[in-house]
Amino acid sequence: MKVAILGTGYVGLSTGVSLAEIGHQVCCIDVDEAKINQLQQGISPIYEPGMEEFLTRNIAAGRLRFTTSHRQGVAGAEIVILAVGTPQREDGSADLTYLVEAAKDLAAYLEQETIVVIKSTVPVGTNDEVRKILEANCHEDVSVKMVANPEFLRQGSALKDTLEADRIIIGSDHQQAASKVKEMYSPLKVPCMLTSVRSAEMIKYASNAFLATKISFINAVANLCEAVGADVTDVAKGMGMDKRIGNHFLNAGIGYGGSCFPKDVKALWHTTRNEEVDFGVLAETMRINDEQQVRLVKKTLKRFAGDVSGKKIAMLGLSFKPETDDMREAPSIKIAQELTKLGAHVAAYDPVATKNAKRVIGESISYADTLLEAVTDADAVLVVTEWQEMKQMDIASLGEVMKQVIIFDGRNCLDEEQLRNCKNIEYHPIGRPAIIT
Ligand SMILES: NC(=O)c1ccc[n+]([C@@H]2O[C@H](COP(=O)([O-])OP(=O)(O)OC[C@H]3O[C@@H](n4cnc5c(N)ncnc54)[C@H](O)[C@@H]3O)[C@@H](O)[C@H]2O)c1
Repeated sequence: MKVAILGTGYVGLSTGVSLAEIGHQVCCIDVDEAKINQLQQGISPIYEPGMEEFLTRNIAAGRLRFTTSHRQGVAGAEIVILAVGTPQREDGSADLTYLVEAAKDLAAYLEQETIVVIKSTVPVGTNDEVRKILEANCHEDVSVKMVANPEFLRQGSALKDTLEADRIIIGSDHQQAASKVKEMYSPLKVPCMLTSVRSAEMIKYASNAFLATKISFINAVANLCEAVGADVTDVAKGMGMDKRIGNHFLNAGIGYGGSCFPKDVKALWHTTRNEEVDFGVLAETMRINDEQQVRLVKKTLKRFAGDVSGKKIAMLGLSFKPETDDMREAPSIKIAQELTKLGAHVAAYDPVATKNAKRVIGESISYADTLLEAVTDADAVLVVTEWQEMKQMDIASLGEVMKQVIIFDGRNCLDEEQLRNCKNIEYHPIGRPAIIT
């Protein structure tokens, strides 16, 4: 099948290389010339495991092309996928500017019967609006059939998640269009659920809001565990053994970040306000998360009797999660800002996200090239992202370089046995008893 994709971000690019991998002829279009130049050479503009192998293999096989020309990219495509960004506006609603622009860019080049798939996360009703824009701007002979096909991949495992997804949601009011999109995905052998356009749009928001709520719930449980002397890891394990609860997304920590959960929960909340539907749990989910993101700062401040000015704090991890260089809504941003405001000197280290972090956090903190450089002479270490490198660090040797070994683990990711075997350390996890040796 000939497929065109508008937007080569995390979603568009992962979709593009995956569809090429299963044999389709794919052309990815983006307005960002620098990105397209890199992609044409098989270089991935994002850090995503496996991406460059997929790129080179499929470009070489002639199944994958990149262009900035909507005309060239869309020509002859049976299916056009929109995967542009839908960031949040100041009031929390989804900003559909890129989507509207992409629809206008596309309309003039649509051929007689085109299926237009919206993969971007969009509020209920957006497919209808985009169809109207396309119809108003395309040739009168063209018939546009919309399919809502939200994406559920996770950054850091985007390709695996696309190729081995739990489900593919296909929302359309045209049975033929839905069948065609189902056929496009058929080599993946992933269960497809066919539904209406509006239900498909809603499934995406309801799923992300539910996962975010699960995270805030376990974080609230963690804070209670600290107060009453229980261990949230055991509590979560015990809860998760109940199949109705499930054991995923019950890791206590410093909250969710990234390009999806924060903005999607806010956008859904915005919809509930517009529709005057009471959905207070969303407001609590967001409030708990906001507070949880600075929990490590509060703990650090308490440990140093309310004064961290002049202290060197090593912040390990900058990206919002491991295996990505994405800094969007990363908890590290708020932590760095709060600690700097309190007069601390923050030395941050991340294996891949430093370049992006500099753009977001700026020069108010220093950036180390190695983990060792960050922790040297530090008064405390804050583990903010659970990269393998952080999990595997040699805790016993920290004593040789740090002023005193005080660790605040925002991801509960350090090895308990190793910690217990170390001398003269203080370890403060989230929702679990501290280890002091
Ligand atoms: N990132 C994720 O993990 C993830 C997961 C599931 C769903 N989503 C949703 O998918 C959508 C895309 O997210 P992303 O993270 O890939 O975005 P992104 O910001 O990484 O990429 C968007 C791309 O679209 C391009 N673009 C903008 N206008 C264009 C136009 N008119 N024509 C062609 N290209 C254009 C931009 O240059 C950019 O490269 C969003 O709605 C997001 O909420 C993201």
